[in-house]
Amino acid sequence: MGFTNSASAVAIFARDRMANRALDMQKEANVSDIKTMLDAEAGNGVPVKRDFLSRFLEAHKKDPSFIGEDRVLALTVANMFAGSDTTAITLLAVFYYLVKHPQTCRA
Ligand code: HEM
Repeated sequence: MGFTNSASAVAIFARDRMANRALDMQKEANVSDIKTMLDAEAGNGVPVKRDFLSRFLEAHKKDPSFIGEDRVLALTVANMFAGSDTTAITLLAVFYYLVKHPQTCRA
C-alpha cells in the first residue's frame, strides 16, 4: 500500500504509534483481550480507553489476512490526514470569527 516504507512524517509517526501500542497491548493482558474491551465499553467493567488505532488493531487480530499490518498503517495514516487539516481549519475559523466578533463570546 506504499506506507510501509514511507519516509513521510505522518507515516513515520503512525508506525511509531503502532509499535508502541503493540508493546502496550502485550504488557496489558486485559487490554489485549477484545471481549474484555467490548464488555468494558458496554459498562460491565472498568472503562478501557479505545481510539481508532486500537480499533484497527482489534480488526487486525480478528482477521489478520484481511486487515494486515500494512492496512492498519494505511487506515491510520488516512485518518491522520483526514482529521488534521479539517480540524485545524475549523478551529482557525472558529477563533477567527470569535476574535473578530468578541461580543458573541459574552453569555
Ligand atoms: C472539522 C473536522 C472535519 C471535517 C469538516 C470533515 C469533513 C469530512 C467530509 C465532508 C467528508 C466526506 C468527504 C466525501 O465523502 O466527499 C469526510 C470524510 C471522512 N473523514 Fe472527515 N472531517 C473532519 C474530521 C475528521 C476526523 C477528525 C477524522 C478522523 C480522525 C476524519 C476522517 C474522515 C474519513 C476517514 C472520511 C472518509 C469516510 C468514508 O467515506 O469512508 N474526519 N470528512
